[in-house]
Amino acid sequence: MKPQNWVNPLRDERDKRLPRIAGPCGLVIFGVTGDLSRKKLMPAVYDLANRGLLPPGFSLVGFARRDWADQDFGQQVHDAVREHARTPFKESVWARLAEGLRFVPGSFDDDEAFARLAKTVAALDEERGTGGNHAFYLSIPPAAFPTVTQQLAEHGLAGGDQPPNVWRRVVIEKPFGHDLASARELNRVVNAVFEEESVFRIDHYLGKETVQNILALRFANQLFEPIWNANYVDHVQITMAEDIGLAGRAGYYDGIGAARDVIQNHLLQLLAFTAMEEPLSFEPSQLRAEKVKVLRATKAVGPFDQTTARGQYAGGWQGGVKVRGLLEEEGFAPDSTTETYAAVTLAVQNRRWAGVPFYLRTGKRLGRRVTEIAVIFKRAPHLPFDHTATEELGQNALVIRVQPDEGVTLRFGSKVPGSTMEVRDVTMDFGYGHAFTESSPEAYERLILDVLLGEPSLFPANEEVELSWQILDPVLEHWARSGKPEPYAPGSWGPPSADAILARSGRHWRRP
Ligand SMILES: NC(=O)c1ccc[n+]([C@@H]2O[C@H](COP(=O)([O-])OP(=O)(O)OC[C@H]3O[C@@H](n4cnc5c(N)ncnc54)[C@H](OP(=O)(O)O)[C@@H]3O)[C@@H](O)[C@H]2O)c1
Repeated sequence: MKPQNWVNPLRDERDKRLPRIAGPCGLVIFGVTGDLSRKKLMPAVYDLANRGLLPPGFSLVGFARRDWADQDFGQQVHDAVREHARTPFKESVWARLAEGLRFVPGSFDDDEAFARLAKTVAALDEERGTGGNHAFYLSIPPAAFPTVTQQLAEHGLAGGDQPPNVWRRVVIEKPFGHDLASARELNRVVNAVFEEESVFRIDHYLGKETVQNILALRFANQLFEPIWNANYVDHVQITMAEDIGLAGRAGYYDGIGAARDVIQNHLLQLLAFTAMEEPLSFEPSQLRAEKVKVLRATKAVGPFDQTTARGQYAGGWQGGVKVRGLLEEEGFAPDSTTETYAAVTLAVQNRRWAGVPFYLRTGKRLGRRVTEIAVIFKRAPHLPFDHTATEELGQNALVIRVQPDEGVTLRFGSKVPGSTMEVRDVTMDFGYGHAFTESSPEAYERLILDVLLGEPSLFPANEEVELSWQILDPVLEHWARSGKPEPYAPGSWGPPSADAILARSGRHWRRP
């Protein structure tokens, strides 16, 4: 028998010799037949098992409207894992994971199905020692959140009267509402069943190594922080571009659009990491406190017809292929005003950032798939060169490449070899691919493991979600009153009005 207060020193979360492994637990996925579950969630669970990060009795329960037995579900998980897992397939790992797979057929309004789910979960505690600890992943249409959370509460699955060391957690996917009012309502519904500390909102960007590295870059080095402010920074550009269109995604996207889909969550989180003050520690509450502070200081700058842009991709040629415009894509109304490109100008109203514009842009069917944060520095106040010597010299820039080709680039001027003094831009590059031998885990691996460990640092809290809507709502209201988005050519970098935003102050968008 272990003494009551015996602590396993190898379970110290700061000990780097052994990775942290989740304690006894299970995961229940709603919407297990969906795209996200097949491509990301089930493969991530396998990858975690393969890395030895799941507890021995780990169990995965699928809930869906299918007439499946446990083995049919097993086959679905198997196929998803074979197709999408990051790590190699190993029969021995699969066989162990497969022992813990269960399936519960039913729809969200079916009381009996939830009663069966409660029995299944209780049986897992008995048979596999999951210890009453279960996370419920709602990979389902947001309209179904209230029904499912309510059902979980009514069938005793949401916890409440559990012993203190037993947990129940809920994981929800974006979109967290479509404006401030609906986000508040959603938070109210979810928090009525699960306390805020048991709610894990997924912003999969925060699971990316490159995003967490912003904190290392800024706060572990002496080099950058002294110039990370309005004295030296001219402006910041945060870009998330995709080169694909929206074929087959009308159901999710129509009526939502680029700003709600990407700026409200991913890009504002990137802004928060880039602009926040140093947290007292990386304890979750301290990190959140700084993010909340900076989001509270952030405002959309007007007049919006000059400082924002929205577009819709037109039909045409992209990469030698003829592609449809949004309005011809299946499922979109021919007069849809859903934007596929959005750009906004934000100000962070504090001493560090006064006067430094933050330009955020995102779009579909743009020149290439890339996400990056570019911190563009001011020009040197005096250049003791002949002006012809510096004609080719741009502004210094630090570019954090979030994806693909993850890394950091520093751009600065250098003398061109030769007998004349000529200064031109060069770059210095850090790439994860050549600096580290270990490949980065998928964002969903990190985030699912964090849910099971109860580690909330990388999940936006309800206050952050509401503040992000507060920043974006005035722009969305302006757009709702302003007719249609402007068309742009596929493969381009957005509509002309986007270029005009920066051109007014003599700036221009970076070509990533
Ligand atoms: N896919 C992504 O990359 C992505 C990105 C960001 C956010 N999300 C969010 O992630 C969630 C899932 O996305 P997804 O792309 O996987 O959606 P999806 O492919 O449309 O899947 C939705 C799932 O919900 C199930 N479902 C819907 N109504 C149900 C009901 N009444 N009873 C039981 N099951 C029901 C569907 O089951 P049936 O098969 O029976 O219809 C399906 O498994 C959504 O909240 C979405 O907004 C997804």
